[in-house]
Amino acid sequence: MSVLALSIQLSTHLQSKYSSLMERIPSARMMIIFLLLHCLILSFIIASVNTTSITTDEQALLSLKDHVTDDPANFLARNWNTSSSVCNWTGITCDARTHRVTALNVSGLTLTGTIPSELGNLSSLQTLDLSFNWFSGSIPSSIFNMSSLLSIHFTNNTLFGELPPNFCGHLSNLESLFLKSNMFYGKIPSTLSSCKRLREISLSLNDFSGTIPKEIGNVTKLMTLSLRGNKLQGEIPEELGNLAELEMLWLQNNFLTRAIPSSIFNLSSLSNLDLSVNNLTGGIIPSLLGNQSSLQTLYLSYNQLSGELPANICNNLPFLEILFLDENDFDGKIPSTLSRCKHLQTLSLSINDFSGDVPKEIGNLTKLNYHSECLTWTTVRSPVATKPIQVGFDKPAKENGDAGQRKWCHPNGEKEEVGNNI
Ligand SMILES: *[C@@H]1O[C@H](CO)[C@@H](O)[C@H](O)[C@H]1NC(C)=O
Ligand SMILES: *[C@@H]1O[C@H](CO)[C@@H](O)[C@H](O)[C@H]1NC(C)=O
Ligand SMILES: *[C@@H]1O[C@H](CO)[C@@H](O)[C@H](O)[C@H]1NC(C)=O
Ligand SMILES: *[C@@H]1O[C@H](CO)[C@@H](O)[C@H](O)[C@H]1NC(C)=O
Ligand SMILES: *[C@@H]1O[C@H](CO)[C@@H](O)[C@H](O)[C@H]1NC(C)=O
Ligand SMILES: *[C@@H]1O[C@H](CO)[C@@H](O)[C@H](O)[C@H]1NC(C)=O
Ligand SMILES: *[C@@H]1O[C@H](CO)[C@@H](O)[C@H](O)[C@H]1NC(C)=O
Ligand SMILES: *[C@@H]1O[C@H](CO)[C@@H](O)[C@H](O)[C@H]1NC(C)=O
Ligand SMILES: *[C@@H]1O[C@H](CO)[C@@H](O)[C@H](O)[C@H]1NC(C)=O
Ligand SMILES: *[C@@H]1O[C@H](CO)[C@@H](O)[C@H](O)[C@H]1NC(C)=O
Ligand SMILES: *[C@@H]1O[C@H](CO)[C@@H](O)[C@H](O)[C@H]1NC(C)=O
Repeated sequence: MSVLALSIQLSTHLQSKYSSLMERIPSARMMIIFLLLHCLILSFIIASVNTTSITTDEQALLSLKDHVTDDPANFLARNWNTSSSVCNWTGITCDARTHRVTALNVSGLTLTGTIPSELGNLSSLQTLDLSFNWFSGSIPSSIFNMSSLLSIHFTNNTLFGELPPNFCGHLSNLESLFLKSNMFYGKIPSTLSSCKRLREISLSLNDFSGTIPKEIGNVTKLMTLSLRGNKLQGEIPEELGNLAELEMLWLQNNFLTRAIPSSIFNLSSLSNLDLSVNNLTGGIIPSLLGNQSSLQTLYLSYNQLSGELPANICNNLPFLEILFLDENDFDGKIPSTLSRCKHLQTLSLSINDFSGDVPKEIGNLTKLNYHSECLTWTTVRSPVATKPIQVGFDKPAKENGDAGQRKWCHPNGEKEEVGNNI
């Protein structure tokens, strides 16, 4: 009421002061009256916005509940009812002050259903975790409108569809995007680079096709990029070498071709690189000549990489623990300098065209610990260790060398489905 009184007062005051001017310029008078009315309406809106939004949050969540067709543990049925505030519902987190919903986490409840567009009305939502359920259908476009979102966790559902070309239009605050293990298809939008705050991206185990957009090299805060298990083709963009904070790059199980850009080996933070099961060609000789690298695991298995291993292969890889070079076309002698990768625990050189002996220096690698189930191996008499050292390098019988059958031998393959988002 005081706002109303003030408005009338102001309006009378203005009218007397500027009446002559206003008669000559009626549009200015109209404008001021319009503005005053606007102020008035706005003040009422501000007074009611909080309760309206809380009701909207409730409506949005009830809509999700309605779209769940199977809830085996009766989780939503038991916990989501209107007799208590949404902030007390299991899986919901609210802002302490505004009581708006900031997190929705129904991960791992084996819910079946679809995502309602009303969910996009949760305008304070920062964390959206629907992972490890059976949500199907496509992501409603209203979700891509949620500028408050910091993380999207849709891992392991049966969602499908294409990502919108302007994916980051409103999601500019997004830090984590986990879409692993769904049925998304189409191209990875190059505009993903407009989500400047992204630190983790996993689009793995979907049906994405086309090339890896070079613009991803602009997402400079990126620490994790996993695009494994899609149908991506073309070359690995050199621009990925701009991702100075990148720690994990997983591009395995795609159809990538051409040489590995040497910029990738220039990434000083990179500790985990997996490019296996692609059609990469060329050598790794020039690539490994850069600066000291943080690489701990390097998987290049199942490609068409060729040439000799450089004698200085270990010079810049002081932390390397796992090296998989099997199923490629490498030739020449196995460099004795491999023994300088002192922390090597796993070394696989199988199914290549190496010739000559296994250098006895390999026996200096006392941490080598090969899973003999995975590959055939040869025994090297160690000059320092009391036990013989086993090195997987022999050519196993081709009929047992099928990538599908041997997938589980790949350490990532073993970790793969234990519930991570990568
Ligand atoms: C609604 O939730 C309350 C606890 O918050 C519970 O006591 C009550 O039984 C629930 N009602 C229904 C219909 O599930
Ligand atoms: C949440 O539940 C607690 C106890 O179950 C109750 O004291 C509190 O008032 C509830 N809060 C709201 C906002 O419903
Ligand atoms: C969601 O809840 C599960 C436990 O139920 C937890 O493991 C997971 O980290 C939560 N998700 C987020 C994004 O915090
Ligand atoms: C919520 O969203 C739906 C669809 O996105 C819309 O039709 C509806 O008007 C919204 N409801 C409220 C209360 O804002
Ligand atoms: C996905 O989640 C469901 C339900 O939790 C589970 O049964 C299934 O094994 C998971 N699938 C994958 C590929 O992780
Ligand atoms: C996205 O938000 C804008 C304005 O905030 C609104 O006009 C538009 O309808 C929304 N789109 C969807 C799909 O919710
Ligand atoms: C994003 O990357 C592209 C290609 O690498 C480049 O041309 C463009 O200038 C970059 N944009 C920004 C904003 O950094
Ligand atoms: C690599 O290329 C060959 C033929 O050039 C093809 O048979 C094979 O499936 C390809 N492998 C991958 C992983 O792209
Ligand atoms: C590696 O990084 C250095 C310094 O950041 C740069 O000068 C060089 O061109 C990079 N090399 C490659 C192959 O990207
Ligand atoms: C190696 O790193 C140093 C400092 O970290 C940098 O100045 C130099 O350009 C790098 N050289 C190469 C070849 O990457
Ligand atoms: C590795 O072993 C060889 C003998 O096989 C030995 O001469 C050499 O000094 C060892 N190198 C290191 C770095 O321990």
